Amino acid sequence: MLSKKPYRGTRDFFPKEQRLREFIFETMHKCALKYGFEPYDGPLLEEVALYQAKSGEELINDQIYSFNDRGERFVAIRPEMTPTLARMVAQIHKEELKPIRWFSIPNLMRYEKPQRGRLREHWQFNCDIFGASGRLGELEILNLAISLFKDFGANAEHFEIRINDRAVIDSFFNYLKLSEEQVYRIYKIIDKSKKVDEAALDKMIGELKLEDSTVTSLKKYLNLTSFDELNTFFSELGLSDSISEFNLLIDKLNKDYVLYDPCIVRGLDYYTGVVFEIFDKNPENRRALCGGGAYANLLQIFNEPPLAGVGFGLGDVTLTDFLNGHNLVPERVREPAIDVLFTFQDENALEISLEMANKLRDRNLSVLSVFEKLKMQRVFKVAEKRGARFTTIIGSNELDNKKIIIKNLETKEQKEFSFDDIDSIVNFVG
Ligand code: HAM
Repeated sequence: MLSKKPYRGTRDFFPKEQRLREFIFETMHKCALKYGFEPYDGPLLEEVALYQAKSGEELINDQIYSFNDRGERFVAIRPEMTPTLARMVAQIHKEELKPIRWFSIPNLMRYEKPQRGRLREHWQFNCDIFGASGRLGELEILNLAISLFKDFGANAEHFEIRINDRAVIDSFFNYLKLSEEQVYRIYKIIDKSKKVDEAALDKMIGELKLEDSTVTSLKKYLNLTSFDELNTFFSELGLSDSISEFNLLIDKLNKDYVLYDPCIVRGLDYYTGVVFEIFDKNPENRRALCGGGAYANLLQIFNEPPLAGVGFGLGDVTLTDFLNGHNLVPERVREPAIDVLFTFQDENALEISLEMANKLRDRNLSVLSVFEKLKMQRVFKVAEKRGARFTTIIGSNELDNKKIIIKNLETKEQKEFSFDDIDSIVNFVG
């Protein structure tokens, strides 16, 4: 027997869920437009090679949905948007006015073990800036992310941004004289460090066979808890210079929202500078709401000169948990809403009811036509279920007199109008 359930890790969006999703997308759209970002989109399928270039081993080895197409091309359903974006920007960046600010809300697929906050298909709000000078791109991207949460009605009690800088960590690793391979491995370990216990972390670090003093230094780094501690740690190592640019950005950020976290390095390989993740302060919603950072060299995979990029991806799964958890979904989104439920109680009124409903739609009202006569006790039940503000009544008397009764379901006020007095009806419904 065929299952009625959707494919594992994907969702059916029934009207209730779809309403919430549209509200989320609309809020994202408005926020991006507020910052002057332009919309873009790309294909669902890309060549796997696009992700092999820079996305990292976890994505390629464990998460990608890939197959050979009929022409023997090895393709993948997009697991993230940034490589597609880089491919598109590589085509036009020479002619384009900088900075380029683009946004998109693609659906992405990753073969993950479905669990709270992680599914196999999700939609991800992507905002990216290319070609901004200094750290202005980073600043704007972070401010945009904060704005989005504020637009949803959230504040510093609900979420926090944990930030770090790969350039800063690289200078520390350089000081420790680690090889490129060791650096790559340590990044992967740090990325996982919050998800495992101390013994497992020790084991992973132990496998790298580092000198004791290097391990001590690494652990000291991993235990830093604030920007101040980071600065002290770096000045003790004589590395204050390599942290100055990061400090310039931090100075400009709102500390109500942003805090330092040495364990944020991001799992994707292309990040080269500032990296950040946004978390719900509700501990039940553990997975990141958003992840992003700066990447200097992504265009080089297309043989283009480097063009600094910075951006983030914010997923709809954890965001939905976030909004529900903090009661931030407005009532109007939870329930359906229409202006007028168009009913009649004499079956001969069907034709006029359809005609009038269209006239009201022409005046931009949302009108739901009922196709058969409805008894009065049913009218109110249906109206409530459909979230109607007004309902119409056309009984035999009204039909004979070419009249219609319109009832305000909130105030219970009702008024009679002539069939052709659309202006007054629109006025009454407001
Ligand atoms: P990411 O950290 O892989 O980054 O994903 C960003 C966000 O997408 C996560 O914080 C999470 O909210 C959501 N997400 C990712 N995977 C899943 C999943 N399996 N189920 C539900 N939600 C998920 C990127 O993808 C980067 N390309 C973002 C970026 C844009 N960086 C720069 N520009």
